[in-house]
Amino acid sequence: MKVLSVVGARPQFVKCAPVSRELRKVHEEVLVHTGQHYDYGLSEVFFRDLGIPAPDYHLEIGSGSHGVQTGRMLAAIEDVLVKEEPGIVLVYGDTNSTLAGALAAAKMHVPVAHVEAGLRSFDRRMPEEVNRVLTDHCSDILFCPTATAVANLAAEGITAGVHLTGDVMVDALRENLPLAKERAADPGLSPKAYFLATVHRAGNTDDPAALRAIMEAFSRLDSPVIFPVHPRTRKKLAEYGIAPAANVRLVEPLPYFEMLALLSGARAVLTDSGGVQKEAYILEVPCVTLRENTEWVETVEDGWNVLVGADADRIVAEADAAGDARRGHSARFGDGHAAVRIAAIIREYES
Ligand code: UD1
Repeated sequence: MKVLSVVGARPQFVKCAPVSRELRKVHEEVLVHTGQHYDYGLSEVFFRDLGIPAPDYHLEIGSGSHGVQTGRMLAAIEDVLVKEEPGIVLVYGDTNSTLAGALAAAKMHVPVAHVEAGLRSFDRRMPEEVNRVLTDHCSDILFCPTATAVANLAAEGITAGVHLTGDVMVDALRENLPLAKERAADPGLSPKAYFLATVHRAGNTDDPAALRAIMEAFSRLDSPVIFPVHPRTRKKLAEYGIAPAANVRLVEPLPYFEMLALLSGARAVLTDSGGVQKEAYILEVPCVTLRENTEWVETVEDGWNVLVGADADRIVAEADAAGDARRGHSARFGDGHAAVRIAAIIREYES
């Protein structure tokens, strides 16, 4: 079977690394990079560190409004589909690259397989939520990371082609954590003596009051805050004239290994990322989520994550208290073998 995989943004590179390796044992894979993320630190370094094969197509779409970016991807992916005639198109997660890949394939009657299907925040103001819902509704095979995701799909009437595989990010993390601890540079800070922070969601970065409240909260924390800054956030901090306080260390976006190593040693992580919430749970690091909702409800149910939005007082209170509560832990996101299952299910689909 010829599987055409579409990736484009940082978290998709992490997700596709284990899947691509398993796929290539039994299938032919054509890898398409849309170019949604194009900075070295958001893209190429992940291919290098995770040993992802070089893309067969680099569409170089780059940044733009949602319509422009998604529309350009749609047209460019369609051209590749015409040329390659794949048996299946595989898409990951919830970015504009995900939706463009799924939509281009569905319109050409090529079966769509979605890795990380069924996630819902129930907040349609998030661009990612729109991408998730639309992608799931035009997918033929839906790989769910959690039982919650399976139930979410059932509630929308999607039951055919649904598979509970576990989360491929667990595969990536399990495989790479020992390497990460070995290779990552020493941050020069004792374990549990610093916070780690990431902020990049439109809801936080495009609202000056929200970004200001988050930065104010960081300034009130009683440990250093290491803050790898996404390019859009850096731009917005400059635009709003927000300067970091003395305890907040702005650094460039981190490669995967460095991020895992820093995360595993953090007192707590403050983030609006989806992937980081899960990684924190798996590494047993308390997480303070700078959003009012999450798709990864299990992290909250098990006591490792709290939702605080962009409210400075809540952020400070929860970050201070992180580490106090007793917490449960179980393999809510799978056993680290999701990629093997995904490759096998695609094989069954073929026959
Ligand atoms: C995208 C995804 C988001 C995911 C995130 C991971 C969508 C709608 N959002 O958000 O779900 O969590 O990736 O990081 O697809 N930029 C650069 N260099 C780059 C890429 C982006 O400078 O390599 C800047 C540009 O100014 C761009 C802005 O960041 O306009 C936003 O980038 P974009 O790809 O639109 O979305 P992300 O915020 O990265």
